[in-house]
Amino acid sequence: GLGVGRLLGTTGMVTLDPGFTNTASCTSDITYIDGDAGILRYRGYPIAELATSSSFLEVAYLLINGELPDSQTLERFERRIGRHRLLHEDFLSFFTSFPSSGHPMAILQAGIAGLATYYEDTLNPHDPYERELATVLLLAKVPTMISYIARRAIGLPLLYPDPKRGYVEDFLNMTFGMPYQVHDIDPVVVRALDMLLILHADHEQNCSTSTVRLVGSSDANMYASVAAGVGALSGPLHGGANEAVLRMLDTIQSEGLSTAEFVRKVKNKEDGVRLMGFGHRVYKNYDPRAALVKATAHDVLGRLGSDDGDRKLEIAMELEEVALSDDYFISRKLYPNVDFYTGLIYQAMGFPTKMFTPLFALGRLPGWIAQYREMMDDPAKRIGRPRQVYTGEPERHYVAMHRRE
Ligand code: ACO
Repeated sequence: GLGVGRLLGTTGMVTLDPGFTNTASCTSDITYIDGDAGILRYRGYPIAELATSSSFLEVAYLLINGELPDSQTLERFERRIGRHRLLHEDFLSFFTSFPSSGHPMAILQAGIAGLATYYEDTLNPHDPYERELATVLLLAKVPTMISYIARRAIGLPLLYPDPKRGYVEDFLNMTFGMPYQVHDIDPVVVRALDMLLILHADHEQNCSTSTVRLVGSSDANMYASVAAGVGALSGPLHGGANEAVLRMLDTIQSEGLSTAEFVRKVKNKEDGVRLMGFGHRVYKNYDPRAALVKATAHDVLGRLGSDDGDRKLEIAMELEEVALSDDYFISRKLYPNVDFYTGLIYQAMGFPTKMFTPLFALGRLPGWIAQYREMMDDPAKRIGRPRQVYTGEPERHYVAMHRRE
């Protein structure tokens, strides 16, 4: 077979490892995962401790800088980000140049790449000042962008950032608030979203993060690299899974299927149906994030839930129960991943299904930035350039058009 292929005329053996199951592309100090034991740590801190005790921007600082900030440092970091939350006014016409029904991930990817045109003095990844500014600008402006995309999709006027509000609270206000009205955002909702963002903040060399690193390895600027990460995240096998879970629950509900019937379809691989939100390349045990999300789903739905949301949560829990006692899933070590329950919470908060994956992007942003910066400082950094095992035709000669059959 092609387990190990030999490339003639090059410097040695080339391993063929589709999907990079066994290939490390870098060394990293940022995130530790033990997939068999179900362990996840950021910079050495267990995910459950950060999720319950920390804030999203504190975790962003930790991932990017390697240490937890003291209170003054965190305050300065938050204030600096707060000052940059406004988008350049030209961006308003940028958003209106897309169909309002267009998928938010496509608009977000274009918007993030476009930031490079407004901040040309922040593009050098090897200049510490420019790189720090690009970091702050991205963390500051991406939530504003996501809110604007959400508002425009339903035709509501855009709200400017309010520097008096906290990061997550203001994101919720910009998304759901009304002009000239002061809204109190429910602190339970703010806290739940803060926690979900923390849980998504980094996950070592997943598809989107590897993409950010690969693009950045050419010394492409941070906006171009992060925008490429958004593209990778948009796929249903990665960040799109949270949206796919909700659609799956909708289908089960509207077709009146029992969970057992649906699981049978999945096992028989009918029409390629998978149990969305289940399975993970690295976790062969319960995803530690899924357990935290499940608990939050109960809290948030208990507070904001509708009959429909409650029914969907029931279906999801039933699916989990059926799957976890079924040999198909047991033998393949398929457990719920972080996104099995997140969609239900986002829906209860009022986010339309299409906005779920942008929320994942907002959460993953600090991880992408931290990994990009770590790579730039790595003395072993080289441009990413995988090899291949050629399986095409041997040399042959051009055939004139009139002689082709
Ligand atoms: N439902 C049913 N069967 C599954 C599922 C699933 N969700 N996931 C994997 N399998 C089966 C495969 O069919 C395969 O079975 P086979 O050996 O009989 O062919 C076996 O389990 C191994 O699956 P692979 O696709 O080889 O696993 P891989 O590591 O490549 O994929 C992935 C991991 C993409 C997450 C996969 O489990 C999946 O598609 N899950 C559903 C989508 C999802 O939830 N993605 C979110 C991932 S987490 C995230 O991005 C935050």
